[in-house]
Amino acid sequence: MTEKNKKIAVIGGTGLTSLQNLEIIRSETAMTAYGEPSSPLSYGCLTKHNAQSTTSATHSPEIIFLARHGHAHNIPPHMVNYRANIQALKDAGVTAIIAVNAVGGIGDDMAPGSLVIPDQIIDYTSRRINTFFESDLNHVTHIDFSYPYSAELSQLILDSAQSENIDIIQGGTYAATEGPRLETAAEIQRLKRDGCDIVGMTGMPEAALARELEIDYAMICVNANWAAGLSDELITMEAIEKNLEGGLEKVRQLIAAALNKFN
Ligand code: HPA
Repeated sequence: MTEKNKKIAVIGGTGLTSLQNLEIIRSETAMTAYGEPSSPLSYGCLTKHNAQSTTSATHSPEIIFLARHGHAHNIPPHMVNYRANIQALKDAGVTAIIAVNAVGGIGDDMAPGSLVIPDQIIDYTSRRINTFFESDLNHVTHIDFSYPYSAELSQLILDSAQSENIDIIQGGTYAATEGPRLETAAEIQRLKRDGCDIVGMTGMPEAALARELEIDYAMICVNANWAAGLSDELITMEAIEKNLEGGLEKVRQLIAAALNKFN
């Protein structure tokens, strides 16, 4: 692929239904063979304000933003039309996706507010349509998914974190659960024994579908809470949203920096 053809999209999860620093140029309602994506595709540039100046700002290359749970945040994880989302981005010419996901922390260093770039997934979902390759096939197709995330795109995010002085945890295994309920304490202990560091409900089948359509895919996870049974506090939506605030501020800055390195 020539550099000229590269195009990046951001899929925003809980707490990131829009990018405040995105100057939207146009918004398009897409339709795919699998139905409508969760939100219109917003085309625009991210602004990055210059710390030394109150007036000057730089603009990133054009990106596409998609709100995974809809702009009104009313599509729960198990009802997201993952195929329509990924197909719509593919149809728009997207070659790379940075996905942003809220997660619960399992590993000792996965405190609320911290950011993680996972490098592995274990899929515990059970009721989702998880492939494009089910009918009208010339051949049975199995994609290689040994390493589910793009190493190159993950590194670009890590380098951006370093240049922006943002603390970020490199690597970790993401457990994808079905939801929409949160896990039991015993389920989290099982995920821990399995080697999982973080748990969320939206990481799959999104990553696998992107691989099927040959789109580079990397994920920035924001720890929103300690996973079930790992702290004395109840996990409430209010607590999740409050913990996400600080983390997502860093994510916006990180994405703006990563986009400038992308092209
Ligand atoms: N479990 C699953 N998904 C989540 C969690 C959690 O604890 N927190 C945010 N998304």
